[in-house]
Amino acid sequence: MVVYKKLEPIIAIGGGVCLDIVGFAASLYRRRTTYIRVPTTLLSYVDASVGAKTGVNFSQCKNKLGSYIPPVATFLDRSFIQTVPHRQISNGLAEMLKMALMKHKGLFELLESHGKFLLDTNFQSCNGLLDHGCVALMTSRIAIETMLEELAPNLWEGDLDRLVDFGLLISPELEMKVLPTLMHGEAVNIDMAYMTCVSNDRGFLTTAERNRIIQCIKNLELPVWHHDFSLNLVKKSLNERLKHSEGLQ
Ligand SMILES: NC(=O)c1ccc[n+]([C@@H]2O[C@H](COP(=O)([O-])OP(=O)(O)OC[C@H]3O[C@@H](n4cnc5c(N)ncnc54)[C@H](O)[C@@H]3O)[C@@H](O)[C@H]2O)c1
Repeated sequence: MVVYKKLEPIIAIGGGVCLDIVGFAASLYRRRTTYIRVPTTLLSYVDASVGAKTGVNFSQCKNKLGSYIPPVATFLDRSFIQTVPHRQISNGLAEMLKMALMKHKGLFELLESHGKFLLDTNFQSCNGLLDHGCVALMTSRIAIETMLEELAPNLWEGDLDRLVDFGLLISPELEMKVLPTLMHGEAVNIDMAYMTCVSNDRGFLTTAERNRIIQCIKNLELPVWHHDFSLNLVKKSLNERLKHSEGLQ
């Protein structure tokens, strides 16, 4: 097959793993071949769809191989999500919750009030109509827009202090340790739940706020704990972060 690298982009259609692998392969093929992302899971629709990074696990480490190569386009079609299993919808909701907690109180309130509806309807129904629109459309749009607001000015990660990295301190080690029992979003969520409790301990969040977040997580049917999430794992993850992030915690 002849691929004209400028005129005929490779089209990646699938979940986050597929988009990452195809994007990475495109960055290698003839040094750089253009590609298009078509996300088909909720997680890839709201997260892997945007941004410039590709990542592939290597040598027991999460995303140790990868590149910065944005797609030339991303096509978003929510109808793909109708066949995604229930657990994977929760998995994607974790990434939306991340943006809600970091940047958008309104999104958090929508997930609190309509999260269960979104989970049960696979983001397909507009019966959960709000006064000003469809809740599936609104929540996914806010999640993507808030993500873009963070990624666009810092595409090459010159600034390592990134809100979108919430939930990514301990989860990479946890995810790799227990693969494949936890999905990516679930591991991120356990990290976020832990950090929510740490924030409460340190006085950054009230106990009422902590409880509200944990209750929202439970309504989204996401795990808050895993038996392999040990203090040793936390220490190992912190060391890794210090090593690779110029000392930034
Ligand atoms: N590059 C990025 O910016 C970025 C951002 C977030 C996450 N990720 C990566 O994405 C990965 C997780 O992605 P994911 O949650 O999409 O998992 P995934 O890609 O493993 O997909 C989960 C499963 O769903 C199946 N599937 C895909 N579309 C489907 C559909 N429409 N209906 C039914 N089944 C379908 C897949 O074949 C797979 O078996 C992680 O490895 C994570 O590191 C990358």
